[in-house]
Amino acid sequence: SSSSQASPAGFLQCLTKANISVFEQGEDLFNTQLDKYIRNPKFLANTTGRPLYVVMPANAHHVQIAVRCGSLNGVPLRVRSGGHDYEGLSYRSVGIEGFAMLDMSELRTVVVDNQTSTVWVESGATLGELYYAISKASNLLGFPAGVCLAVGVGGHFSGGGFGTLMRKHGLAVDNVIDAELVDANGTLLNKTTMGDDVFWAIRGGGGGSFGVVLKWQVRLVPVPATVSVFEVSVSNSQGAAVHAVTKWQKVAPALPEELYIRALVQNGMAVFRAVFLGTCDALLPLMSRSDGIPELNLSRSDCKEMTWIESMAYINSATVEDLTKRTTSEFDSSHGFKATTDYVRRAIRREVWAKIFYKQLRQPNAQVILVPYGGKMSNVAEDATPYPHRAGVLYSMQLYNYWPVDSAYNGAMETKWVRDMYAFMAPYVSSKSRPRGAYFNCRDLDLGPNWGPKYFKGNYQRLTKAKAKIDPHNYFRNEQSIPLPKRAS
Ligand code: FDA
Repeated sequence: SSSSQASPAGFLQCLTKANISVFEQGEDLFNTQLDKYIRNPKFLANTTGRPLYVVMPANAHHVQIAVRCGSLNGVPLRVRSGGHDYEGLSYRSVGIEGFAMLDMSELRTVVVDNQTSTVWVESGATLGELYYAISKASNLLGFPAGVCLAVGVGGHFSGGGFGTLMRKHGLAVDNVIDAELVDANGTLLNKTTMGDDVFWAIRGGGGGSFGVVLKWQVRLVPVPATVSVFEVSVSNSQGAAVHAVTKWQKVAPALPEELYIRALVQNGMAVFRAVFLGTCDALLPLMSRSDGIPELNLSRSDCKEMTWIESMAYINSATVEDLTKRTTSEFDSSHGFKATTDYVRRAIRREVWAKIFYKQLRQPNAQVILVPYGGKMSNVAEDATPYPHRAGVLYSMQLYNYWPVDSAYNGAMETKWVRDMYAFMAPYVSSKSRPRGAYFNCRDLDLGPNWGPKYFKGNYQRLTKAKAKIDPHNYFRNEQSIPLPKRAS
């Protein structure tokens, strides 16, 4: 579709005729609605490419019509569910391309079926809303998805989705059993009618490439009535934090899969936050064993027992009632950020950790966030879903830096830190035979033209084939959407 054929006026008319809410650039409500779910406020600056229109569907039929209006009038659509995209590509473009944003935030019904332990959740729901609804239905069921509560189901499930239950139950996409997708013609498809290749692709191949996922059916997982949590900070006096992290990276991926211990390294400290699917009485001996992490000196008073839903609030420093608020994630709205990801397959030497602590991590807000793999993550084949970072990964590593929002400052220093740190890490996270990986859901435009194999490894080619099947005219596109396969010439 060439832009010479684009008719924004025709698009607008088409939507208005169908009584679909739409806001145009220049209207007051346009900015209110656009800015509402911009989760990285560095993209609030109006220098970024904004949509021509914000479209607010109120039901599935509206989504179908909006896509048809867009296709017919040559106006591309970008879909926004929770707006957490690291590069903001659900609501902004880097190039200059007249597009409209489809805001899914009104489509957020969660229907729990206790009989079958399954849920249909609409893409506009947040993770907090999903978890809350599950907990209202049962305290013995949970769902393995992300930690941060305001993240949208739509983008999150599209790219993988990991959180505190991942070592026991895998990613969100490992537990998706059906979905409804609107394709570029506006046709509503389910698992059967979209076909195996497309159903495979939408479970981890990334949002914004195949169509609009309206809702997802997921299988819930059992959680015990009592789970245990702890948070232990280790300061670096006499190298204690360096030692603890060096030990953690070997131990955390090998511990029983009921135990998830995340490590955050910042300001010369290592902070360990854990969720254990069991009681403190069962957890404490695991930690103090020599193949645990006795270095954390975990005591009975560090360990707190609670329900699973309380643990999801706890790990966010929030309350259970906060789960349904749409603005409670840790970094929401007040901080701009830059981040990127790596996968670590060989434990990093102590001397390197010492360098990271003492030399690399000098900026106050610079963080390295380590998430342990192993368990169920190692037992899912690399091509079972498009998400390929499975067996052999010890942990993922997120390089993250943030700054207070101020219209006069764009985070240049913090952004440079992430880029420099990424360069520093290269020899420790890749080799000739093992190219570097990255997590699609922590999208990074700095990955350059070779982003596809970094996110998806060998699954990338298959994703381009699924793309050709479902969206042969490349209607759904952005700076990092799955392209059509290259034709053999
Ligand atoms: P957003 O609406 O911005 O969409 C992201 C992408 O998906 C865009 O390309 C968009 O077009 C597309 N898309 C959105 N809805 C769609 C739909 N219905 N159909 C098709 N395409 C759609 N991840 C993780 O695994 N575990 C975690 O704990 C966290 N925590 C976290 C915290 C914070 C503060 C942030 C900013 C991000 C995370 N993430 C995360 C990453 C998160 O999973 C990722 O950013 C998701 O893509 C966000 O989904 P949203 O719907 O919120 O984003």
